[in-house]
Order: sequence, then structure tokens, then C-alpha cells
Amino acid sequence: MKVLLLGSGGREHAMAWKIAQSPKVEKLYIAPGNAGTSAVGENVAIKATDFPALKAFALEQKIDMIVVGPEDPLVQGITNSFKGDAACSHIDIVGPTAEGAQLEGSKEFAKQFMERHNIPTARYKSVTAATLQEGLDFLKTLEAPYVLKADGLCAGKGVLILPTLEEAQHELKEMLSGMFGDASATVVIEEFLSGIECSVFVLSDGKNYKVLPVAKDYKRIGEGDKGLNTGGMGSVTPVPFADEVFMEKVRTRIIEPTINGLLEEKIVYQGFIFLGLINVKNEPMVIEYNVRMGDPETESVMLRIKSDFVELLQGAAQGNLDQRTMELDPRVAACVMLVSGGYPEAYEKGKVMTGFEQAAGTDSILFHAGTAEKDGNIVTNGGRVIAVCSYGETKEEALAKSYRVAGMIDYDKKYFRRDIGFDL
Ligand code: AMP
Ligand code: GLY
Repeated sequence: MKVLLLGSGGREHAMAWKIAQSPKVEKLYIAPGNAGTSAVGENVAIKATDFPALKAFALEQKIDMIVVGPEDPLVQGITNSFKGDAACSHIDIVGPTAEGAQLEGSKEFAKQFMERHNIPTARYKSVTAATLQEGLDFLKTLEAPYVLKADGLCAGKGVLILPTLEEAQHELKEMLSGMFGDASATVVIEEFLSGIECSVFVLSDGKNYKVLPVAKDYKRIGEGDKGLNTGGMGSVTPVPFADEVFMEKVRTRIIEPTINGLLEEKIVYQGFIFLGLINVKNEPMVIEYNVRMGDPETESVMLRIKSDFVELLQGAAQGNLDQRTMELDPRVAACVMLVSGGYPEAYEKGKVMTGFEQAAGTDSILFHAGTAEKDGNIVTNGGRVIAVCSYGETKEEALAKSYRVAGMIDYDKKYFRRDIGFDL
């Protein structure tokens, strides 16, 4: 079969690596892809949100299945667009409809959905400029720190956590007057939850589901989880506190009510549900939903899926996931992200990267995030550059291997966190 994967990050390289291993796949295209995906498939220079160009390509190349990596095309309705068009409705798509993608596209929708289906989450109030006063009053009922979330997509920047009531009131006004453009015309104010977070990935065909390996990511730039938020500096799977007792609560209180809620509301959802959870005294609560896999969690999660991933993806897209089996690798997988010095603020691109031959002699796996090919070299081309992933019998062993290879890859102003997994 022929598969088209959309996206261009480390997540997509990891998915492409896994998809390409399937004996079912005769050809894998990645649009637009990166310098890493071209080693496991063929990159196509089409943006993941250019639906007309994607349709033309998919028809011309007789694509059988499209796997959507990032959230933007989903929120913009790629699934509706393909399924609603007689010429391409036969193509399997892994990714929810625009209605389902609202779980990530609108924080207000997600909170109201959880409220309707009794899914545990932080207490909240959603406000607009017209109801600002209600928001200011609600803030007074909460304890510090204060959580403000722009309703719409903000490329991971729309959540503010403020230490004092004065700052929270000030920032609420700023957000409502356009701090994030239209995305913050509605703001969700939330009670702050205290606990350790983890990422639970569910693949659903709309009725049945499979829970992929649970992972933890490290979002802050500095060691000890200090400093600015990034796209993610590393990940580890499994997560020891997400044990059988905790996961049973996740299944019965969160996953099943979510899938049943979508069904009840007649929302077609055949794709990934990413639950950003927080463990509050052994009780799982939802911090956020995403409608795609996480990055850099995917980079370590893919290492732990032993079965044919394409079988599972087909099960999701064709509504028969219950007839597919998923076998997991019991080992630990850990990924360390190498980034450009200065990231997540200003950084330079185009630094020549070396050490790939030496790294190829190890059993670590490199997934490219922000790289490009230039004059026969691989150069840096983004903030997050490359994810170094390894297996281990223990977390320590997996991380030691990744750190050893992180030392082999070199470029000017390389930076990475040396404490991934410190809190597990
Ligand atoms: P983002 O990934 O940009 O949506 O950032 C969300 C992050 O903000 C989460 O990973 C949490 O660390 C934090 N956060 C969001 N909501 C809450 C909450 N209600 N209580 C505590 N932390 C929160
Ligand atoms: N790693 C978090 C995310 O992908 O949003």
C-alpha cells in the first residue's frame, strides 16, 4: 500500500521510521518532511495544510492511507475535506474530523466537553471581553498561582501561569484585548493543579481504542524544569507512576467517557487522542487534550511499539481496531533533544552538523526535527534539531546511551538538558 504522512518534525520522522518498517507499505511519502524522513521515504514539497495540492497528489499517486502528524490540518478540517469529496473519500485517514479536533482547537470546547461527560479536570470559567468582570471575580475565588489559557491554537504559547492575583487580572485583560490575536478572544481561567504530569496516547477508531505506551516529556529549557517553555527537550517511556491501578482509573474515568462522549455527540473520531494528564495524589486529571501524537514523546513511544504500526493505523481508519493486536517492547526508551543555542528565543540556523557516522555505529536511533541538507552537509534548520533515542533495560541505561550519542553529534552552540528523567 501507499502511505502519505503529513508533517515535518521529529514526531513525523519517528512515525515515518516505524511506518516504513511495515511489510504492508510499498511506498511512503512525507509532506513536507525533513532531512531525516527522506532516508525512510520520499519527501514531497507540499504543506500539510494545502488540501487542494494534497488531494491532487494523493489521487495521482493512488495513496491508500493518510496519517496526519500535526494539529493544524486537523483543526482546519482535512478529514472532512477528503471524506466529503467523492473523488478521495475512499482514502483512509488517521486523524479526527474538524469537530473532533476542537478538543485541541478550542480549550473552551474541551472544558465544556469534559464537564458534559464528567471527566476529571480543573475547575474553570471561560470569559470574553464582554464578560471580563465575571473573569476578574472568578480569579478572586482561586488560590495562587493562576492559570490563563487562550481558547485557540497558539503553537504551544497560549498558557500563562501567574504567581499573583494582580498579574493574573492584568494578563487576563491583555489576553482579551488581543495578546494572541483571535486565539485569545476567549480565555479559559483555571484552577491550578499540583502534581506530576504524563502523556497518555490513545488510538481510537471511533468506538474501540488502544492505549499506546505512556510517556513523560520535559518542556522547560533548563535543568530541574526551570526557564522558558519549549516544544520539548526529551522524553521517557514507560512512566513508573502510571501503573496498573492508575491506568485503570485513566481508562474508566477519562478514556472511555471521552470516546463514548464523542460517539454520543456524533463526532467522528478516528485518530490519536493525546491526554495531557496530571497525577493529583494518585488521581488522574486532564490538563489538556491534543488530537495528535506528542513531540518529543512519539520519538520514544515508537521505539516501544513492536507490532506493525500500519496495522493499527488501518484499524483506526477502518473502524476495526478491535481486530488488531498491539505488542509492546518491555524495555525503557528515552530521547534527548539537541537544540540550537538560544532556543526557545532567538537562535542561528545553518550550522554544519558532524558525528553522524560515529553515531551510526551505535544502537541509538536519531530522529531529525529541525535539520536540512545543504551542499552535501546536514545543517541545523530549527530550534529543536535532533532527537537521540535509545533503548535500555532501565531508564538509566537508556539515558546513558542517548547522552553518549548526544556527545558525538556536534555543531556550533549545541545545547541539551542533562537531566531528562530526573523526576521519575
Ligand atoms: P501547553 O503545553 O503550552 O498547553 O502548556 C500547558 C502546560 O501548562 C501544562 O503542561 C502544564 O504544565 C501547565 N498547566 C496547564 N493547565 C494547568 C493547571 N490547571 N494546573 C497546573 N498546571 C497547568
Ligand atoms: N510534548 C507535548 C506536545 O506535543 O504538545
